[in-house]
Amino acid sequence: TVLIHRYVKKSKRWGKAKAILKEFEEKCATPTLKLKQVADAMTVEMHAGLASEGGSKLKMLISFVDNLPTGNEEGLYYSLDLGGTNFRVLRVQLGGKDGVVNTEFTEVSIPANLMVGTSNELFDYIASELAKFVKEENEDYKVPPGRKRELGFTFSFPVMQTSISSGNLIRWTKGFNIDDAVGQDVVAELRSAIERQGLDMHITALVNDTVGTLAGGRHKNKDVVAAVILGTGTNAAYVESAQAIPKWHGDLPKSREMVINMEWGNFRSSHLPLTEYDYALDAESLNPGEQIFEKIISGMYLGEIVRRVLYKMAEEALIFGETVPPKLKVPSILRTPDMSAMHHDSSADLNVVKSKLKDIFEISDTSLQVRKVVVELCNIVATRGARLSAAGIFGILKKLGRDTTSGSEGQKSVIAMDGGLYEHYTEYSKCLENTLTELVGEDVSGSIAVEHSNDGSGIGAALLAASHSHYLDA
Ligand code: GLC
Repeated sequence: TVLIHRYVKKSKRWGKAKAILKEFEEKCATPTLKLKQVADAMTVEMHAGLASEGGSKLKMLISFVDNLPTGNEEGLYYSLDLGGTNFRVLRVQLGGKDGVVNTEFTEVSIPANLMVGTSNELFDYIASELAKFVKEENEDYKVPPGRKRELGFTFSFPVMQTSISSGNLIRWTKGFNIDDAVGQDVVAELRSAIERQGLDMHITALVNDTVGTLAGGRHKNKDVVAAVILGTGTNAAYVESAQAIPKWHGDLPKSREMVINMEWGNFRSSHLPLTEYDYALDAESLNPGEQIFEKIISGMYLGEIVRRVLYKMAEEALIFGETVPPKLKVPSILRTPDMSAMHHDSSADLNVVKSKLKDIFEISDTSLQVRKVVVELCNIVATRGARLSAAGIFGILKKLGRDTTSGSEGQKSVIAMDGGLYEHYTEYSKCLENTLTELVGEDVSGSIAVEHSNDGSGIGAALLAASHSHYLDA
C-alpha cells in the first residue's frame, strides 16, 4: 500500500504540473486571428501617436532624420552605442561609392552599479572608454588635420529630440534607472563628460538604435523601409511620409519623409495574451505598467518568465521534490541565452537542460519527463514573443500600405533586423519569419524580406554623423 500510495501521490503531482503547463499554454496562445487584431491595434495606435504628442502609448518619436544615407558618405567618423548591457565604440571609415572601407570597435560591459547610479558616473565612464579608444587611432585612419573628430551617438532609450543632435531623455527602460538624467539633454551630458576627459570631439547626430539600424540597412539595400531591434529590449523605426505626421509643425523636409522611432516596446492592447506571470513580472519590475510589449517579447524578460512558471510548478506540483530549490526564487537568474540553449537541446536525454538546471538552479537528478516540460515552457514563451513581434511588423507594413499586392509592381519591402535575441535565438527568429509569411500570405510574402543588419546601428550612426557633418556646408 505504501508503494501504491506513493504512486498515486506522484501521478497527482504530475497531473497538477500538466495542468499548470496547459493553462499557461492556453493563455499564451496566438492564433492568426489574434495576431491580426494585434497588428490592427498597432496601426491604430501608430495613427494616434502621430496625431498628437501623448496621443497614444506609442510615442512615435520624431527622429529629425529626414534623409537616409545615399551611399555618398565619406570620411572618418566615430560612433558610440549605449543601450544594453554592453556599449560599443566604433571608428568607421566611409569611402563614398566604395561603402564602408574599415571599421574598428571595442565593446565594454557596463558595470551594473552604473546602470542605477548618477548621470555623471555613467557618462564619465563612457567618455573615458571613448577617450581610450581614440588614443589608439592609427596613422591610416585619422580625420584630416584642422578638423574635429565627429561622433554619432546611438542612445537606445526614448528621447524627445529637439534637433538631429540634441534631445531629452523621456525615461529609462531595460533595467537602467538613473533619476538625475531623466529630462536632461543626453548630448549635453555626454559633451560635458567628453570635455572632462579633455577630448576634442563633436557630437553630430543623436539616434535611437532602430534609427541607426534603418540608416545602416538602407545604405546596403535601397528596399529597406523599417528596422526592428530584438535584443535586451525591442523597438521599431520606419520611414513615414512627413504629411502623415499631424504633430510635426516644422517645415516640410525636401525629401517629404521623416524617420519615426515608434518605441513599440511600450505598446499595449487588450488583444495581447498576458498571463498571471507577466502581471507579476511587471509589478516587480523597475518600470511597472510600462513597456508591456517589450516585457513579453524581448531578451531581458523571456528567461525570467520561464523561471516564474517553473517556480509555480515547483511550489504547487513539487516537480523538483518536496522543497522548492532556493535558487528558483532568484529573479532574473535564468538568462535568455540559457533558456535558448535549453530550447535548442537536441540530445535524446536532454543533457543541456539537465546541466543548465544543475548549474543555474542547483537542481540535480531531474527526470527526462521534467526536462521535457522545461523545453516545452521555453517553446511556449519564445513562440508567443516571436509571433507577437511578427504581428508588430505586419502592423507597420499595413500602416505603409505594403501588406498587400496592391502596391506597385515589383515593389519590395525589406525589414532590417538586429539584436542578440534575433541573432542568436534561432527558434525565435525562425518562428518570427514563418509567422510573418503566415500573416501576409504566400502571395505577398515574396515581396517582403527580413534581413539581418549586423551592427547596423553603429555604422548607421556613423553614416548619419557623416550626412549631418559640420563641415558639409564649409
Ligand atoms: C527599449 C528602448 C528603445 C530601444 C529598444 C531596443 O525599448 O526604450 O529606445 O530602441 O529598447 O534597444
